[in-house]
Amino acid sequence: MTLKNKLNITDQVALAKAEERISKKKAKQLFDSGDIAKAEAGTFAGLSFIHAYLFEDIYDFAGKIREVNIAKDNFRFAPLMYLKQSLEYIDTMPQSSFDAIIEKYVEMNVAHPFREGNGRATRLWLDLMLKKEIKQMIDWNLVDKDDYLSAMQRSVVKDTEIKALLKQALTDQIHDRTLFMKGIDVSYYYEGYSEFKTEEL
Ligand SMILES: Nc1ncnc2c1ncn2[C@@H]1O[C@H](COP(=O)(O)OP(=O)(O)O)[C@@H](O)[C@H]1O
Ligand SMILES: [Mg+2]
Repeated sequence: MTLKNKLNITDQVALAKAEERISKKKAKQLFDSGDIAKAEAGTFAGLSFIHAYLFEDIYDFAGKIREVNIAKDNFRFAPLMYLKQSLEYIDTMPQSSFDAIIEKYVEMNVAHPFREGNGRATRLWLDLMLKKEIKQMIDWNLVDKDDYLSAMQRSVVKDTEIKALLKQALTDQIHDRTLFMKGIDVSYYYEGYSEFKTEEL
């Protein structure tokens, strides 16, 4: 079953392609317009801004807290009952060091506030915090897909793997447009979307 969408697409493959094309274009626009600066670093409001920006032309739930419980590989993300409370707590978590920022990122992943698109939106939110607080960001091309996904699965129990994996990929090139566009492509590749190059949209 495809998610209900504004494009009225019912074909899974067609929806995946349209979602990739439209939201990657929006990701590019987020950087080129300077709108990324409007997203508050380290809060749910900031993450919601990014999620809405990417997906507002595709889904009604863009930027909005999910209304269903979700699980992946036997892991249940925050139950609806505690989701709001959990997001309020995450807003208050510190973000002044690399370790604190990754811990906050891991908590946000456990919250998984949206119906879909958490991975892609939250990685942008992570980079926003890293840029603002420690003047660095992740060069996602240096983070292998399988290593990343297994470290994220593991992160709900122990965060040492994800910290080590992301630490070796830190870069000072935080204003580099090519690196940003490439990062979007890699982030989408993690989630199975690799039909279009952001730079070319
Ligand atoms: N078993 C798991 N345990 C914890 N986190 C996971 C697990 N599987 C995936 N994730 C995280 O969830 C993200 C995918 O969430 P999802 O809402 O589908 O985002 P997207 O639509 O952008 O792919 C992954 O990038 C990863 O960070
Ligand atoms: Mg997904």
